[in-house]
This record gives sequence, structure tokens and C-alpha cells, in this order.
Amino acid sequence: MQFETVVKERQSCRNFDAARPVEKEKLERITDLARFAPSACNSQPYGISVVTNEKLAADIAKATQGMGMNRHCSSARAFIVINEEPAGLLAKTGGRLKDQDFASVDIGILCAHIVLAMTDCGISSCIIGWFDEKRIKELLGIDEQKRIRLVIAAGYAAKDDVLREKKRKEKEKVVRFYE
Ligand SMILES: Cc1cc2nc3c(=O)[nH]c(=O)nc-3n(C[C@H](O)[C@H](O)[C@H](O)COP(=O)(O)O)c2cc1C
Repeated sequence: MQFETVVKERQSCRNFDAARPVEKEKLERITDLARFAPSACNSQPYGISVVTNEKLAADIAKATQGMGMNRHCSSARAFIVINEEPAGLLAKTGGRLKDQDFASVDIGILCAHIVLAMTDCGISSCIIGWFDEKRIKELLGIDEQKRIRLVIAAGYAAKDDVLREKKRKEKEKVVRFYE
């Protein structure tokens, strides 16, 4: 796909086709591409857990559904869970000196690479920020001390999940040129 098409066709899917699993080869391609994402001092302060096991995926879906949220996760056929790993000394020191949270920035960039790579593979996605972190750590055996930063629900979109018009702030409110 052309880059512009990928960007415009990516949208948060809220209705996955529960009957259609995501092929492992596609998830491998997606994670291989995502690993090319840039990060502060090339620190890559993250771990990527890919879940396709049906029981585990159902449990992760449940962990995103507190207070009636994220019902669409029940029909997702795969989840990618991104946890933060310790950054390298250089990135950590630079972040401290400049008062920047590079690890979160790096994880956001990684996440963007993942969802765009998914679109390119015909896989729909929804980034999920509302989840029971403790429960997901238990389910995946991730150390209590570590933080899970994002979950990505994935699957093929259901037939009626059409491309929506993108709602964004007016360009002038976001973009400034200094010429
Ligand atoms: C950090 C982050 C957390 C999000 N959390 C959720 C979530 O818990 N549930 C959900 O349905 N969508 C979630 N979204 C998706 C946003 O609502 C969505 O990206 C935004 O409304 C723009 O729509 P689009 O992705 O279709 O372009 C999240 C997106 C981001 C980047």
C-alpha cells in the first residue's frame, strides 16, 4: 500500500470479525517492521507480547472492559501488549536532564508503527489505553514492577465496519509554519 493510503485507512476498529483469526506470519511481519521504530538513544525500552491463544485473548479482552468499556475487544482475535522495559543509561540520563519521558514517547512511536503495519497487512486494530494493568501482568507473567503502557486489539474488521470520516481538530489549531 502507498503510505498515504495506509495512514488514511487506519482507524480504530470497534467491530472485529470474531470468526477470522489473524495469521501468525502477519503478526510476525508486523512485529518485525515495528522493531525498526526509532527510539531515544536507540534504547528500545519495551517488550512486545503477542497473544493469539483464544483463552488468553478472551481474558485480556475482559481486562480491558472495566466499567463497561471496550466491549469490542471481545471480538478481537489477537492482542499486542506493550510493556516498558528499563531504558539504556544514556536515554535515561538524557531524559532526566531534559525532563522528558522518552520511554513513553518511544512506546507511542512503536505503537504507531504497529498499527500502521497492521493496516498494510489488512489487519484492523484499536489502541487500548483503558485496561486492568495488574490483571494483564498476571495473565502474561509480566513482573509486577514493570509497567504495561498500551494494549492493541487486532483482528479482521467485520463486514459492516466501514471507513469512517476522520474527525480531527482544524489544521490551523495544530500546525504552525515559521517561514
Ligand atoms: C493512547 C490511546 C489510548 C486509547 N484507548 C482507547 C480505548 O481504551 N478504547 C477505545 O475504544 N479506543 C481507544 N483509543 C482510540 C482513540 O479513541 C482513537 O484513536 C481516536 O478516537 C481517533 O480515531 P481513529 O483511531 O479511528 O482515527 C486510544 C487511542 C490512543 C492513542
